[in-house]
Amino acid sequence: MNLAVHVLLLSFLLYTVHSFPAYPPYPIYPRSSLNSSNASSVPIPQPSYNSSSKAMNPDLVTSLPEYSGSLPELYSGYLSAENFKQIFYTFAPAITPTDKFIVWLQGGPGCAGTLGFFSENGPIILDPNHQTPQDNPNSWTRFANMMWIDQPFGTGYSQGSPLASTVSIATSDFIQTLKSFYAKFPEMKEKELYLVGESYGSVWGAYFAQALRSDPELHAIPFGGLGIISGLLSDYETQNTITASMWLDHVNKMGLYYTNESAEVSTFFAAKNQQCGYAEVLERMQFPAEQTPIPKPRVNLTNSFSKKKRQADSDSDSGNIKEAFQMITDCDTYTLTDFLLYLKNHCMITYDITLDCSFNSNNDPLTTYLNRKDVQKQLHAIHVESALTSSKGIFGNGCNYDVYGDIVKNGAPSILEEAIPELVQNYKVSFLAGALDFQLLWTGSLLALQNTTWNGWQGFQEIPDLNSPFGFTLDERNLAFTLSNKVGHMAPSKDPSMVIDWLQKTLLG
Ligand SMILES: *[C@@H]1O[C@H](CO)[C@@H](O)[C@H](O)[C@H]1NC(C)=O
Ligand SMILES: *[C@@H]1O[C@H](CO)[C@@H](O)[C@H](O)[C@H]1NC(C)=O
Ligand SMILES: *[C@@H]1O[C@H](CO)[C@@H](O)[C@H](O)[C@H]1NC(C)=O
Ligand SMILES: *[C@@H]1O[C@H](CO)[C@@H](O)[C@H](O)[C@H]1NC(C)=O
Ligand SMILES: *[C@@H]1O[C@H](CO)[C@@H](O)[C@H](O)[C@H]1NC(C)=O
Ligand SMILES: *[C@@H]1O[C@H](CO)[C@@H](O)[C@H](O)[C@H]1NC(C)=O
Repeated sequence: MNLAVHVLLLSFLLYTVHSFPAYPPYPIYPRSSLNSSNASSVPIPQPSYNSSSKAMNPDLVTSLPEYSGSLPELYSGYLSAENFKQIFYTFAPAITPTDKFIVWLQGGPGCAGTLGFFSENGPIILDPNHQTPQDNPNSWTRFANMMWIDQPFGTGYSQGSPLASTVSIATSDFIQTLKSFYAKFPEMKEKELYLVGESYGSVWGAYFAQALRSDPELHAIPFGGLGIISGLLSDYETQNTITASMWLDHVNKMGLYYTNESAEVSTFFAAKNQQCGYAEVLERMQFPAEQTPIPKPRVNLTNSFSKKKRQADSDSDSGNIKEAFQMITDCDTYTLTDFLLYLKNHCMITYDITLDCSFNSNNDPLTTYLNRKDVQKQLHAIHVESALTSSKGIFGNGCNYDVYGDIVKNGAPSILEEAIPELVQNYKVSFLAGALDFQLLWTGSLLALQNTTWNGWQGFQEIPDLNSPFGFTLDERNLAFTLSNKVGHMAPSKDPSMVIDWLQKTLLG
């Protein structure tokens, strides 16, 4: 177990949970609302059918409440993992036949892929901007066969117990799920398979890809590569504190948000970076990269400041910068930056710093819809209801807080250490990050990559163009990193055409 990753996520949980809006997907499914008796021990009957005959397929979705368009070809229902576990899936073949097949992996950990289907890249969209289900002109089915899954077990419509508590359990469940998908849709076996994960979906994607390649049965599937959007690439310090000043400088330089940074702030950060040893790391983050590991300073991250900040939040005390400078005695520059953003925008959401108080987090048509019985019936999301109770319904908020807690507590090794360098020897790996994302800093991702060796060299050689108003792409030795200045954490919903462009240029080829 990697303690650092554990601490990183835990701190997100502790720190940001109070400000989670209901939408888009965040882990907010309280333990008490889920009655997980041993629902999973009741197998859901799996009909046998002939997949080449569309109309005979019981998973075919034939109508959706309140949707008045012409329904695209769509299948949903359950795939079997181990021990009777049933994983909910949605499969949408490409609009025009292609040899690409993408499996989308939602983050959290513990948020349902069904959320991504309706709010990020599926053929039908339902979100605060679309109060009824409508056709999505930016559906990824324009260029790929697509599958979304509610995983790990316990997430979304994949209810039951015991919950998946570790990355390795989730990984073996995924492998079984995929096998059961191929048994239902054997023609997909010939398609080039890509995994694309968002946020914690980076961890799913990296470990699932690794497991796929070593599975004797799935090894024959042509694997195309791994896409990672707003991924978790390192521990809290490297991902979010060491480069916080660099992240803020970029936001300011681009006029994206905190355009009024005072000399006072710069001076404070400069002193903090010196005191904490961050300045030396930033200096050593070069292009081309040094061919030696960049040491990480040993610092105190006591988080004492965040508690006070939270207090200030709840008192709706506007606070001020001088006060903040006095409060931050440790090296947690991420929390300090969060406070600066908060001073500018009291409705600041770490997932997209440009969302302001006009963003109504209670405007959540999607989970209301997915908790409707008539919708569940049409999606074939019918399962052991008697064993489950939730104040919101079976789907809840789409994110299972218990799954989140267990996966985070048990941790996982860093994907840049354990999975990516090996994967990238044979397959393309492409990262996309957004400058407006303050949940996982792109600067920290780039630092982590400059400190990683793949295909014989450490880091990127080319100098990124930090002055471009759009962002940049570095693409070397099978690994690409793209920064977009236009998006936050949920890139596909913010700028769908950019994300499609990124996918096609850097991953699908
Ligand atoms: C739980 O599962 C066991 C073993 O499958 C079964 O014997 C038992 O009846 C189940 N309990 C409930 C409450 O469903
Ligand atoms: C599936 O259906 C198609 C067309 O209806 C038929 O040609 C084929 O033989 C069937 N396959 C199986 C395994 O039943
Ligand atoms: C922004 O800058 C102006 C002029 O430098 C200053 O008067 C104002 O107080 C600043 N606003 C904030 C929010 O810092
Ligand atoms: C760089 O990688 C080494 C291991 O190769 C690690 O010990 C060190 O902490 C990393 N540095 C940063 C800044 O993450
Ligand atoms: C970290 O905090 C401890 C206890 O507050 C203190 O003794 C130590 O000097 C601090 N270390 C650094 C590097 O600031
Ligand atoms: C949970 O479900 C079981 C089986 O259906 C039921 O016996 C039990 O009363 C339920 N518990 C709660 C707290 O709803």
